[in-house]
Amino acid sequence: MLIEVLHSASSPFLPYLEDKLVIVIDVLRATSTIVTALANGCQAVVPALSPEEALEKRLTLPGSLLGGERHAVRIEGFDLGNSPFDYAPEKVGGKTVILTTTNGTRAIRAASEAPQVWLASFVNLQSIVHSIFREMERNSGLEGIAIFCAGTEDRFDLPDILCAGMLIDALGPEVEVNDLGEASRMLYRAAEGHLIETICRSDHGRKLLSLGLERDIIYCATTNILPIVPVLADGEIVWLADDMRG
Ligand code: MLT
Repeated sequence: MLIEVLHSASSPFLPYLEDKLVIVIDVLRATSTIVTALANGCQAVVPALSPEEALEKRLTLPGSLLGGERHAVRIEGFDLGNSPFDYAPEKVGGKTVILTTTNGTRAIRAASEAPQVWLASFVNLQSIVHSIFREMERNSGLEGIAIFCAGTEDRFDLPDILCAGMLIDALGPEVEVNDLGEASRMLYRAAEGHLIETICRSDHGRKLLSLGLERDIIYCATTNILPIVPVLADGEIVWLADDMRG
């Protein structure tokens, strides 16, 4: 089975997703934040493409919260930004969050035609690996996996690619990968052991540092702290299965 890494949410790749398990990665910060929100008791995250769409969706979801960023800063009038630290249990417990981010929620929505869409980041990587092995055993019809990096405004994003590389590395030497998958694995192996420093030097890392968000980077570069596989189902992101809780 082929594992393909795609570098951004640009549309030319989308037809390839139709018969695949798609894993969306936006390390800084959307998928790290969504995993954290669900771990902290958030009921569901609804990805929206724009602040306007988020506001419209809230009309149909009374009691929900609005979250998101533009230029990495909380959108004016929204309840939450896009920092994982905004999504504490006392804020998001039992709530639905409607989230719009520059790249992450766009990538999730772009992947939504695929039969299965999961969300990964460093914080939940090991759970993703376990679930992929389980899915491969269970679903002999699975045609392949696309690791869909959100990128930054359609450009390559180093933190996402490093996370894709860690995932491929953890799946073992037998997996067949495309060229970007091979490159991701090589880059991850070169950066392993100094992930935080490497991510701080990336374009996106420097942007967050300039806004004083170093603790977000450190958190988002921390591996395997949350045993959760978020899945997109009927337009909402929820836990993959109740039997995986706790
Ligand atoms: C995005 O979706 O583009 C990011 O999560 C931006 C950010 O760092 O907040």
